[in-house]
Amino acid sequence: MSKPYYITTPIYYVNGVPHIGHIYTTTLTDCQTLYQRFKGVDAFMLTGCDEHGMKVQTTAENNGVTPQQWCDQVAEKFKQCFTEFGLTNYNRFIRTSDEDHIKAAQNIWSILDKNGYIYKARYEGWYNVSDECFVTDTNLKDGVNKKGEACKVTIDGDVPCVWHSEENYMFKLTAFKDKLLEFYEQNPSVIVPSFRQQEIIQFLQTGLQDLSISRSKAKIHWGIEVPNDADHTMYVWIDALTNYLTGAGWPAENKLWPADVHVIGKDIIRFHCVYWPAFLMGAGIELPKKFFVHGWWVAADNRKIGKSLGNASSPQEMAQKFGLDALRYYMLSEATPESDCQISDDLVVVKSNADLANALGNLLNRCVMSKILPDQIVPKHEIIDKLIKNEAEIGPFETQLKDLVANVNKLFGLVDASMENLRTKDSLLAIMAVVYQINSLLQVSEPWKLIKSSTEQHSLIMYTAIEAMRIVGTLLLPFLPIKAPVILRQLGIPESDWKINAKILTFGYLQQGVPIGTEKGILFQRIEMEKVEPVKPEPKPKKEPKEKKEKKPKAENAEAVQVKAEPEKQE
Ligand code: ME8
Ligand code: MG
Repeated sequence: MSKPYYITTPIYYVNGVPHIGHIYTTTLTDCQTLYQRFKGVDAFMLTGCDEHGMKVQTTAENNGVTPQQWCDQVAEKFKQCFTEFGLTNYNRFIRTSDEDHIKAAQNIWSILDKNGYIYKARYEGWYNVSDECFVTDTNLKDGVNKKGEACKVTIDGDVPCVWHSEENYMFKLTAFKDKLLEFYEQNPSVIVPSFRQQEIIQFLQTGLQDLSISRSKAKIHWGIEVPNDADHTMYVWIDALTNYLTGAGWPAENKLWPADVHVIGKDIIRFHCVYWPAFLMGAGIELPKKFFVHGWWVAADNRKIGKSLGNASSPQEMAQKFGLDALRYYMLSEATPESDCQISDDLVVVKSNADLANALGNLLNRCVMSKILPDQIVPKHEIIDKLIKNEAEIGPFETQLKDLVANVNKLFGLVDASMENLRTKDSLLAIMAVVYQINSLLQVSEPWKLIKSSTEQHSLIMYTAIEAMRIVGTLLLPFLPIKAPVILRQLGIPESDWKINAKILTFGYLQQGVPIGTEKGILFQRIEMEKVEPVKPEPKPKKEPKEKKEKKPKAENAEAVQVKAEPEKQE
């Protein structure tokens, strides 16, 4: 029996509230989890919070609460946020303060120790508390800390570092150089995208040093105690990375491990693709099958969106303005693992209007509206069977129809291949290409006119449009979990057929002559956006078509952008 598909997100630090970066990684992981489940695969998704360490200890102190109280509050905020975003498909929300996790982390430590990979030494170096890592001299320059005192800061991002000098437990990372290189050479596509794998190989060839993996308890008490040494707590990364094993039930059971994919941002690639495999090798545990590494969401100034920079727009506000599926669609259709990607209100609006309201929404409307489909049933005709069987002589639109059917039949294969590597942009591009092709078939054949001139051709065109739309709607289920069901319900597709597999996604699966759905309504509202003029309290009324006159929210600043919904134009 094959094991369940096991997919993870990073566990997020509890020193701030979730922002769009966290939402994205979790959304992407959620999308892949749903994709697998619609395929009939038993998928287990793990997400959660990373709670130990200096940063949390200090933040809690500054807020006058215990670290545990602080973590309880923030973990709750993450959970709530995920719920608000419909990200509720995970199987477990893990917290590193969970009992079973503490045991798992101590267990992997003991194994590494027993296997001879841990030793004690005085360790000195500059430490970046914000990212919980030591920084080498070549990545440092002179700068000042928040109090204005001279210190070293990171070259990238000017993060102040603190001098650390103490007796620590060390992990023999250098002992794994050759094994890691061999692993990456033998498995050339473990890391997606592949250029990141090349970067890791280069790092392994030049940059490896043993790793300090403990802190004195006097300095950091908010951490997991080192087995058999109550004076030390574990370094947060060995603690944090082990969450993936805890989530799999390790060491008690092993139903899930190895992970099928760890989804992470590029900021934490070294921890995942160098340290984690080394810990696992040292403990004699199988390595994960894949690391998917995405880029950063950046603001208009191309700076990474993050809590330390304070440039993050509230994901809640964006979701409220555009709707969850429009925001999800933007992220999944724009991001590629190869590069960073911008996100802003304007960009989401343009994308949502073009792809979702105009192309997809309009198409659905044309498929089901009674003006074009008076009988409200899936058309039935012998000539449709000819198209399904790819026979000749089906009339004036034969070329367009056959092209469309060929592309529809290729769609599942294309989407499935790109989802293999979580390339959601490629999947959505392929799906949208079919949407545009159905639209242009309708544009050329004008079924609203065919009703009068040729019922046979009308049936052929409308069956094709509805059937292609059914396949599109089904494949969109993991990407638009709120709106794709609306598409399928409007078409009248029973839930038992909301599945992703070759049989269901083959043109002609849809029965002829059955009623379409009775549910009607606009799929996506067009979003209208206006730049608010500076200083004027009330924006100048624009010429607007219908039922306008609603009160507009006051602009907070000159750049504020107002967004409101307007009903989609009907055929
Ligand atoms: O690093 N764009 O937690 P973290 C895209 N606790 N993704 C972003 C992003 C952005 N601007 N900002 C954050 C940690 N992310 C550790 C992880 S795992 C064993 C421990 C996402 O709260 C992205 O997935 O800093 C990134 O890797 C992660 O949040 C970092 O979250
Ligand atoms: Mg971070």
